[in-house]
Amino acid sequence: MIDHRTLRVALLGAGSVGSQVARLLREHGDDFAERSGARLELAGILVRDLDAPRDVDLPRELLTTDAESLIVGADIVIELMGGIEPARTHILTALNSGADVVTGNKALLAQHGPEIFDAADQVGASVSYEAAVAGAIPIIRPLKDSLAGDRIVRIFGIVNGSTNFILDKMDREGLSAEDAQRLATDLGYLEADPTLDLEGYDAAQKAAILASLAFHTEVSMDDVHREGIESITADMIEGARRAGFVIKLLAICERLADAEGEAISVRVYPALISREHPLATVHGGNNAVFVESEAAGPLMFYGAGAGGVQTASAVLGDVVSAARRHIAGGVGVGESARQSLPTAEIGRISTRYQITLEVSDEQGVLAVIAGILNDGGVSAATVEQTVDDEGTARIVIGTHTAREQALGDTVARLAESDVVVRVASVLRVEGE
Ligand code: NDP
Ligand code: HSE
Repeated sequence: MIDHRTLRVALLGAGSVGSQVARLLREHGDDFAERSGARLELAGILVRDLDAPRDVDLPRELLTTDAESLIVGADIVIELMGGIEPARTHILTALNSGADVVTGNKALLAQHGPEIFDAADQVGASVSYEAAVAGAIPIIRPLKDSLAGDRIVRIFGIVNGSTNFILDKMDREGLSAEDAQRLATDLGYLEADPTLDLEGYDAAQKAAILASLAFHTEVSMDDVHREGIESITADMIEGARRAGFVIKLLAICERLADAEGEAISVRVYPALISREHPLATVHGGNNAVFVESEAAGPLMFYGAGAGGVQTASAVLGDVVSAARRHIAGGVGVGESARQSLPTAEIGRISTRYQITLEVSDEQGVLAVIAGILNDGGVSAATVEQTVDDEGTARIVIGTHTAREQALGDTVARLAESDVVVRVASVLRVEGE
């Protein structure tokens, strides 16, 4: 039996993820020692309430509310508290006292990533965060290490499980948005503040992290164009289905190279995806991320985007790596922001669109609409008109690829036109 060196591990948080990390660390101590070259001693667990019920039985003597004493003296600090403060302060304290940090805190990294990575660089420590994006799915390490020799062009996928669950229930079981959201709430899928999921903040945080890594550029939440699923109705889901599409909340990070020069676009919005596309088959709370790079071509990563034990897997992978680094010595590999590419406004992207209009059922309406599209430089690929029992005419226009700025201006002109009663929806078509 090898006499392994012991590393002190401080765990901040014993909630859904933290309690599973504590359980697995304690249950598989020998395995972790073999894999990392160090015996990982769980020195203590920071909580708010010592008496709160826990998902896992944890020895009472490990729980503490004294952050400072726990963090100072630890070799590895695992932050699974969530939120900005005091998590930020604790991570900075840990780094400044020489510990490596593992975190799943996407909100913190999307807001204060550069400060935290700079602090790690100053002391040569590492900050690992595989759990911060797409739960159990290994996506950070592939971007940071496996694809380090390649040039990433585009990342495109579903990174929020709860909104995928809601949209999937609406699509496959015909639930209303309210019923699907209620079910997601009852199953504990939504964040404590559900607007983080529903309004796309959670996905935008993850997109900022992915784009920073992929494009070697500091990308913050302010750089991400964000739209949530609040406006998606059962009617829109049904309309999408009839046209051969499904609606998914997508995070897209891509390089742009046009007349205005090189830039990146980072955006989150609900979009139409062909039912033939692999992302259309991502059901329930799962996540899937496509990475397209120049040499490797398209790669797909798929699996559980959340869940206590699933996310603990990603955390513990980082812990083993941090332990190996601690044992081997040397400095942690920092984040690269050497490219500093500018972020493009949403008006600069180009994609296809589907515009649904309610119009007066009169002669000449189509000609007026065609004229507005033509003046705006937007070309229609498909036009379908239906008239319902109440005599309301509905026109669904599928466009060829158009620039978002031109599309937005054209939709504004359509909305002002006398023949258009209402612009019912405008959805982007992605994945083609
Ligand atoms: P929980 O809310 O379930 O747990 C948070 C834990 O942190 C609790 O044990 C809580 O203590 C403790 N805590 C919070 N604030 C303080 C404080 N001020 N002082 C001391 N202790 C505190 O969070 P999760 O486990 O769900 O998430 C942890 C992190 O992992 C978050 O950053 C989250 O975004 C991320 N993540 C979570 C996923 C998931 O599926 N849950 C998936 C991917 C990432 P107490 O129990 O006493 O209240
Ligand atoms: N609220 C997040 C989601 C949890 O629904 O994907 C995992 O980050």
